Parts: sequence; C-alpha cells; structure tokens
Amino acid sequence: RKKLNIGLFGFGCVGFGLYEVLQKTPGLKANIKNICVKDKDKKREIGAENFTFNKEDIFNDPEINVIVELIDDAEAAYEIVTRALKSGKAVVSANKKMIAEHFEELLELQREYQVPLLYEAACCASIPIIRNLEEYYDNDLLESIQGIVNGSTNYILTKTFKDNLSYEEALKEAQDKGFAESNPILDTGGFDAKYKLLILLAHSFGYIAKPDDLLNIGINSIGGLELKYAREKGLKIKLVAQAFKNADGTISAFVIPKFIDSEDRLFNVDDVFNGVITKTSFADEQFFVGKGAGAHPTASAVLSDISALSYDYQYEYKKIAQQENLSLSDDVNLKV
Ligand code: HSE
Repeated sequence: RKKLNIGLFGFGCVGFGLYEVLQKTPGLKANIKNICVKDKDKKREIGAENFTFNKEDIFNDPEINVIVELIDDAEAAYEIVTRALKSGKAVVSANKKMIAEHFEELLELQREYQVPLLYEAACCASIPIIRNLEEYYDNDLLESIQGIVNGSTNYILTKTFKDNLSYEEALKEAQDKGFAESNPILDTGGFDAKYKLLILLAHSFGYIAKPDDLLNIGINSIGGLELKYAREKGLKIKLVAQAFKNADGTISAFVIPKFIDSEDRLFNVDDVFNGVITKTSFADEQFFVGKGAGAHPTASAVLSDISALSYDYQYEYKKIAQQENLSLSDDVNLKV
C-alpha cells in the first residue's frame, strides 16, 4: 500500500471530521502533512503548527502526493483542484457544486494529466453510490435512479412534520449540526440536490449536463396547504432527485418535492439520512440508505477515496467515457 502525504485545504466541519477519522485508522498510512486555511483569527481544535495560510506551502511540497479539498467556495476549490491535477497530485474533493459546474473541464484534465480525481463524498455523503454506479452496473442496465440526496432538507422536512418545529427552527438545527451549506438557499432551493443529481446522471447514464439544464424546485416552495394535505392523507413530503431513461432513449432529470406514501421506500428515510433507489434490468430495484451529511459520515466517504488511492487505484470513468448518443428530453427538463 502506498504511503500518502495529504495536503488538506479547509478545516471546517468535514475537515476536522477527516482529521478525527484518520486518527482512528492508522492502518491506512495516510498522514495529513499540512493544512491550508484562510482565516488567521479563527480558533481551531488543533495546534497552530498544523496550519499554513499560504497554499504554495502545499503545492511546493514534493512529499505531498494527495490534495484533499474540503473548502466551501466552489471557484476557489476549482482553482486548487485544477492546479493539483496539473502538477500530478491526486485529488479528493467533496465539492459537489464545483464538480457539477466544471464536470467537463475536470474530466479533460484527468485524461490529459492521467491523475485521479475522486469525489465519493460529494454525493450522498456516507452512501458509496458513485462506486456502485461505476463498478457494479454495466451501462445498459440502469433504467432509473431516484432518491433523497440532501440531508439538510430531509432533516428540516422531518422536524417540521414529526416534531412540529417551525421551518426556521429546523433550519437552524440543521446548520448547528453542520449539515447545511453556508448559503442555505443551496439546500432549501434544491440546488445542492441538483448538483448531486448531475453527478449521479454522469455516473449512471454517462450523460454530463450543466446545472442550468435541469429543473430544480426546492422545499422553499412548500406552503401550508401542501403540509396540511400531506398530514390529512398520511403522506410525507420529500425532496426527490430523479433521472430516468425515456422510451425514445432521451433522459429526464429533475429535483422536486414530492408527496410520498407509506408504501414508498423513501417514506422512512428521515432526518439526515439519504436514500437512493436504482432500477435495473435484471436486479429490479435496489435501495441504498445512509447518512447524507455531517462531519463523520462525509469524512468516511473522503476516507474511502483516500483508501482507494493508497491501493493505487486507477479510477476510470467508464460510464462517462462510453455513452455518446444521449440527450435530455425537452418535455421535462425545463430551464429555470
Ligand atoms: N448540505 C448538504 C446536505 C451537505 O445537507 O446534504 C452534504 O452534501
């Protein structure tokens, strides 16, 4: 197993979570060599000797062979990731917005420089959905993929529904627990779910779309009337991301809040859990469940990518490389 020296960018909720889980997995032989952070005044959980404020200290360190990017700002993350790939350092990222917005450029860079970029944590945190989609299913077999892919909104919906919390109280709890994005409209407006859907779309059908290509309606569109109706009928409301192949071969993909009845597998996916249902030709339906946000569940997915790199894992995006003649259906994929 290869020894990995990690240069970590960002030390927020997930960054510190990664630090903690790495302490508990000594067999991995992966050590965080340096951590680059922005805010010089912030009080941190570990000593100042672990940090640098200058990214050059990481890029210029020849011993650092993996960059783990866990910062919030998608454009700054893109700069870090492109630079890392160009300099031959493997990258692990959890930044769904950055990946969804720059999918094509990132794939191109990987091909050109032959350096892996792994991002299992960017989609449904603890659920190993990207690996399953890439490695388990052959290209033609998947018919549809749908699920709850945002932990904060599922938490908010659960709390407002079950515990009668107000929307603001529930959102505050999701923020305090480290589930929500720093700009919570990304969660409540369905944007975060759409970024994840774009990643799922690429790794299930091999189709790369841009965020503006897909419709997203968030839970901020749910009013008292919908809640009342759901309560009266014994339904729940869930924010569902879905992608499916149509009979004419086109693909539909969108994020919308849906009424879910108790027969539906997603009905009992509550709190911060995510749940993804795949439908395939021979296996019929399969159902993946796991925590979709939070420090340790997300760090666990980051850890799985680090582990893959320690085995010198050559990640090939088979799905993306092979599908060429797909298009989005005009009917459902309204522009927003
Ligand atoms: N804000 C995201 C969520 C974090 O709530 O799902 C995990 O991607």
